[in-house]
Amino acid sequence: MAMTTPMVSRDPQSNDRDRLNAVHGSFIDETIGIVARQTRDTVSFAVGAPAHEALDLVGAADLVSTVIHREGASALGYAITEGEPELRDIVAHDARARGLNVKHEDVLVSAGALQAVDLVCRVFLKPGDVVVAESPGFANALSAFRNHGARVLEVPVDSEGLDVAAAARLLRAGGIRPRMFFVVPNFQNPTGETLSHARRDALVALAASHGAIVVEDDPYGLLRYRGKEIPAIAALHPHSGVVSIGTFSKTFLPGLRVGWVISDHEVIKRMAAAKQTMDSSTGTLGQRVVVEFHRRGGVAAHVDKLRALYGAKQARGRAALQRVFGDAKGVSWNDPQGGFYFWLKLPQGMSARTLLGLALEEGVAFVPGDAFAIEQDHGSALRFSISAPTLDRIDEGVTRLRRAYDRLA
Ligand SMILES: Cc1ncc(COP(=O)(O)O)c(C=O)c1O
Repeated sequence: MAMTTPMVSRDPQSNDRDRLNAVHGSFIDETIGIVARQTRDTVSFAVGAPAHEALDLVGAADLVSTVIHREGASALGYAITEGEPELRDIVAHDARARGLNVKHEDVLVSAGALQAVDLVCRVFLKPGDVVVAESPGFANALSAFRNHGARVLEVPVDSEGLDVAAAARLLRAGGIRPRMFFVVPNFQNPTGETLSHARRDALVALAASHGAIVVEDDPYGLLRYRGKEIPAIAALHPHSGVVSIGTFSKTFLPGLRVGWVISDHEVIKRMAAAKQTMDSSTGTLGQRVVVEFHRRGGVAAHVDKLRALYGAKQARGRAALQRVFGDAKGVSWNDPQGGFYFWLKLPQGMSARTLLGLALEEGVAFVPGDAFAIEQDHGSALRFSISAPTLDRIDEGVTRLRRAYDRLA
């Protein structure tokens, strides 16, 4: 047989096979290694995942077996890239109930919110584009922006969420035209702060003035324990092209890896094309388990149970901090109305990383603030998550934290 030239494109790195691209992951896993340094007895305020008790409330074994018995092997076949039709309907229906103007075809089911963030980057960003993001902010998203070649403008967060006026000033001073604004509007990771209604409006106006898109990633919005709900940015500004990301990870089962993105259906088509080279579709079984859970009609009651569970943990965390750290000069923390996190500030100049070393020796863990930024300095702050420990262990963990603090102060 005659030899033909193989029809492959040239390897752009053929002379440099050892070169690997720089890929950013979670700064938390990468740089801190808390998991490796904790023992079974460690009280972990480091975890951003749901509590084990919350996962047990779901009745997963029965849901999975119902789906498999009823649907057989088709529950384990490939799914449509955009998502199981019934699940797209559920997401669209829930979003309409929250005031978003959404049709079935405006929804794409993703492998968690995190994949949705990556799909947004693939569709909207070019190398060199600027993304305006919260600082401190969701570390994995900051890494995703950088992996797509974007530059990140870190903007401070205060008690009303992203400081939109500061963003405007920084953009003006730098003569920067951003491509995207990325926010976690409710009970933000890592501070627990919520973007106020006025700031939501100001954010959309600022983005419009730059021709930039707003992306809201809202895993924690349902977990409100006090105060009044603020409508989603996409609900407040229906014709402004806001992209909304959500997930079943914090209120259902994170291991199923089921989340979603809502956008104009032309954008959704492009995201589906991008997803085809990633995983072809989100796992069929996981999607059908989510559908089965919804069919049974107990979602609102389940979320109420989660609010009771985490609301009690948050109240216990707040009380323990007040009791144990009330007299510690220069230590302060905020007062989130929902979600998993408190943001604790240490006295100026005290290193949260150094404190972590001592804390692990005392049997307690948290995530130092510098894990949530690229350039900005949050080294004297830490993320304190109430999700994992039981109520008694929250008290014990805060007492241990004080022992570690006293060794450093
Ligand atoms: C703001 C934010 N977005 C997304 C995620 C990840 O969600 P998922 O498990 O759906 O990928 C998290 C989880 O920590 C988060 O805090």
